[in-house]
Amino acid sequence: MADKQVFIFDTTLRDGEQVPGCKLNTGQKVEIARQLERLGVDIIEAGFPVSSPGDFQSVEAICQAVSAPTVCGLSRAVEKDIEVAARALRKARRPRIHTGIGTSDSHIMYKLRSTREKILERAVAAVAYAKRFVEDVEFYAEDAGRTSNEYLARVLEAVIKAGATVLNIPDTTGYCLPDEYGAKIRYLRENVKGIDKAILSTHCHNDLGLATANSIAGVQNGARQIECTINGIGERAGNTSLEEVVMIMRQHSDLGLFNNINTRLIYPTSRLVSERMGMPVQPNKAIVGANAFAHSSGIHQDGVIKRRDTYEIIDPLEVGVDHSKIVLTARSGRAAIAYRAKNIGHNLTKNELDVVYAHFLEVADRKKEVEDADLKQIISQAVDKAVGENLPGLQRVSTTGKT
Ligand code: KIV
Ligand code: ZN
Repeated sequence: MADKQVFIFDTTLRDGEQVPGCKLNTGQKVEIARQLERLGVDIIEAGFPVSSPGDFQSVEAICQAVSAPTVCGLSRAVEKDIEVAARALRKARRPRIHTGIGTSDSHIMYKLRSTREKILERAVAAVAYAKRFVEDVEFYAEDAGRTSNEYLARVLEAVIKAGATVLNIPDTTGYCLPDEYGAKIRYLRENVKGIDKAILSTHCHNDLGLATANSIAGVQNGARQIECTINGIGERAGNTSLEEVVMIMRQHSDLGLFNNINTRLIYPTSRLVSERMGMPVQPNKAIVGANAFAHSSGIHQDGVIKRRDTYEIIDPLEVGVDHSKIVLTARSGRAAIAYRAKNIGHNLTKNELDVVYAHFLEVADRKKEVEDADLKQIISQAVDKAVGENLPGLQRVSTTGKT
């Protein structure tokens, strides 16, 4: 069973916080880190300590605030960065230094202005240096998505020898297709000597909307850690969404993979991160968007009212959302009106429903969404009109418990 566990590495407070305008103070970061601990993440990437005194302080504070998860600090393959990360992590019960360097030809030639051989040496030196401070050292091969598999395998083999415990394979630019990314992970598993001594990790960006698919392709091919953020926040189009990969593993038990996340805390955690960062969640966002469990077309509403799983694959309670929503719009049918009327205390007969429905459609064509207060008014107007016209069956619009 152990090799079927996928470790959840949350980088909301590092990669996620790189989003413009989403800066958090230390108190807010500690609050989120505590929530991530309750959620059950295995590793919290708390920050990039050398980047600013504030980030250093936040990493230190998080180390003292949480006890179960590993706390990780990012560094470049630079001795000063590694020393500062090690200092920030001193009080962590389980410290991890995450160090690495760009390995794609594009990064080597244009960003680092170096050669493959020199980069390989720097990678090894960085891991060996980090090992002086902590046992748990994760190596990232930046832009691994666009790095040749053969060269990547050479780098990884060398950093494993230097003591790397986790090998991060970032698709930094969100370029890969799922098959390609999955094949890369498989290639590394099959061709890197000593690979069994380390855990392979996915770290996928969402530039083409494929971050989740790529992460899942990664674990299907042998990766055992997923790096992700709450609400998928992160640089540019963001990172892999924690809530998506966790729920995919849960819904597809056929994958045979499990993780430690308490899924009932997903929605409250999503709200907390969104509020503290001032970063709204798009309404159609999978799992945590406002419309993720809302039904507005008549056909769907009829199905969900009869049996929830006709149009919902996840019970909202499982992710901490109270209930599914039946939203009243001009596309809604009689079943939805009867359902929502009952919820506000009106058990409509068939005749009553016909009259109320006709009034409802007039209102719904004018308004985007019909709320409970509107529906109450529609029902009472329909009744008044019916009583005035003395229509059969309409004198008695009944309120539950009353006539
Ligand atoms: O996307 C990336 O390559 C990263 C690394 C620094 C891990 O965030
Ligand atoms: Zn990243």
